Amino acid sequence: MKATLLAGAAALFAQEAAAQFAQAAMMRFQCNQLVIERLDPLVNPGQLQSTHLHQIVGGNSFNATMTPVEYDPSAKSSCTTCTFSEDFSNYWTANIYFRARNGSYKRVPQMVNLGLRGSGGVTVYYIPPYDGKTKVTAFKPGFRMLVGDANLRANRGVQKQICHRCAPNIDQNPFGGAPCTGDDTVVFPKKMCGGGIRTTITFPTCWDGKNIDSPDHKSHVAYPSSGSFESTGPCPASHPVRLPQLMYEVMWDTREFNDKAIWPESGQPLVYSMGDPTGYGQHGDYVFGWKGDALQKALDARCSGDRCTALKTQSAEAAVACSKSQTVREETEGCKLI
Ligand SMILES: *[C@@H]1O[C@H](CO)[C@@H](O)[C@H](O)[C@H]1NC(C)=O
Ligand SMILES: *[C@@H]1O[C@H](CO)[C@@H](O)[C@H](O)[C@H]1NC(C)=O
Repeated sequence: MKATLLAGAAALFAQEAAAQFAQAAMMRFQCNQLVIERLDPLVNPGQLQSTHLHQIVGGNSFNATMTPVEYDPSAKSSCTTCTFSEDFSNYWTANIYFRARNGSYKRVPQMVNLGLRGSGGVTVYYIPPYDGKTKVTAFKPGFRMLVGDANLRANRGVQKQICHRCAPNIDQNPFGGAPCTGDDTVVFPKKMCGGGIRTTITFPTCWDGKNIDSPDHKSHVAYPSSGSFESTGPCPASHPVRLPQLMYEVMWDTREFNDKAIWPESGQPLVYSMGDPTGYGQHGDYVFGWKGDALQKALDARCSGDRCTALKTQSAEAAVACSKSQTVREETEGCKLI
């Protein structure tokens, strides 16, 4: 367990005292791929064709229209791709494509994070403050939010919470270390990454306490006014309610593309599904869908890793078996995607 915790975002704790680390608890679990398709119930609600493709994990009631509260994912879903079987939330990000020298595109596969089991998908974290006692409030039914900006193509200093890490070697523990530190970049790595690329998407942790959504899907939440969430940095007066730190890690397996002969002459070959070759446009979306008060119970119990007596779990096989067919039928693995 300790080795697992040291991996990935757990290394957030690197700067903290060992004693705090020992107490630290964070939920870190696998959510397998549910579907890859052009739907976005947050940004393009009701539209049977969002502007770009996403990879979606979580409850199988994911749909173009998910009206807050009245569309309850925990009631509408018959399964979830996540290890915690009471979590019918949906989590989604853009996909990455490899653009070969001859102009063809191929979807970059995702891999499962260190210590977890399943297939592709996303590693989801819910992290309470390090101190082991500060109360956090679970998201309310209907809650949703968005981080990042799909249209961003240049440095506007607003993407501190989204990073790419280039892993030199798959055999090492390539993904340790706090997100957005060291050589992590907001943009795509410029060089070949022998062990793939990790993207981290870290959501705000302060809530206005009233709105489960806002027109831009962002202004009802905020980052702490100083310090970090983990060190219990204070929430701004406008957003006083402390939420768990929701974070995604997506592990992109770029190894099959690590051949200079097929890279474009112009260099860096990766493109996000919005047609973004920079990386600035990466974004993450969240629609809360935990059953009843399961998430609050898990936070209060300081659940850690992907097993907790306060929560029900399912086998990796059962989680992988949950899927959903595309609403918008489309080829997503290659060809003309963008
Ligand atoms: C998804 O939305 C469609 C309408 O776009 C609706 O017919 C269908 O019942 C919805 N699915 C679920 C699970 O509610
Ligand atoms: C283009 O290059 C890729 C990578 O080498 C290869 O897999 C694909 O078959 C090529 N496509 C065409 C149309 O030549």
